[in-house]
Amino acid sequence: MKDDIKEIIFTEEVIRSKVKEMGASITSDYQGSSPLLIGVLKGSFMFLADLARCIDLSCEIRFVSASSYGFAAVSSGSVKIGKDIDFEMSGKDIILIEDILDTGVTLAALREFVAGFGPSSLKICALLDKPSHRKADINADYVGFACPDDFIVGYGLDFAEHYRNLPYIASLKPELYS
Ligand code: IMP
Ligand code: MG
Repeated sequence: MKDDIKEIIFTEEVIRSKVKEMGASITSDYQGSSPLLIGVLKGSFMFLADLARCIDLSCEIRFVSASSYGFAAVSSGSVKIGKDIDFEMSGKDIILIEDILDTGVTLAALREFVAGFGPSSLKICALLDKPSHRKADINADYVGFACPDDFIVGYGLDFAEHYRNLPYIASLKPELYS
C-alpha cells in the first residue's frame, strides 16, 4: 500500500491538531445546543470519529450515505443519496460532516435533501477543500485544510475503496489512477 503513495500531504500530527481546533470551534459555537452530527459515508468515518471526541457537548451522531464517484478518480456528477432516513431532522441543529469538498456536487445535493426535513439550522464541516474544482455554489462553514489539486487518499478517503485506513493524507502516484 505504501509503495503507491507519491507524497504525504498532511501527517497524523497535523491532522490531529487541526481536528482538535475544529472541535473546539464547534463546541464554542453550539453552546446551549445539542447538535446532530451527520457523517457522510463512507469517506467521513475517520474524521467524524476523531472530531466527535473533540466536541465537548452532548450531541447526536448519525450517518447518511452519498456517492458520486464510483470507481473513477473524477466525479461522475450524479449523486446517489441513501434515502432510508430513520431519524428525526426537523427542529435540529445539524452539522453535515464530510471528508472533502471537491466539485461540491455531493454536498449541494445533500444540503438540499436535509434542508427539506426542516432542521432549525444547517452547517457544513469538511476536513478538506479543493476550491479550484468547485462546480456547485457551496462552501463549508468549518474547513480543515485547503488541499492541492492532486487526487488524495487516506484518513477515510479512498481510491476504489482502498487506502481509507492510512493514518495520514497523501497523494497517489498518478499512474495508478490515470
Ligand atoms: P464532490 O461532489 O465533487 O464535492 O465530491 C465529494 C466526494 O468525492 C467526497 O466525499 C469524496 O468521497 C470524493 N473525493 C473528491 N476528491 C477526492 C480525492 O482527491 N480523493 C478521494 N476522494 C475524493
Ligand atoms: Mg465520499
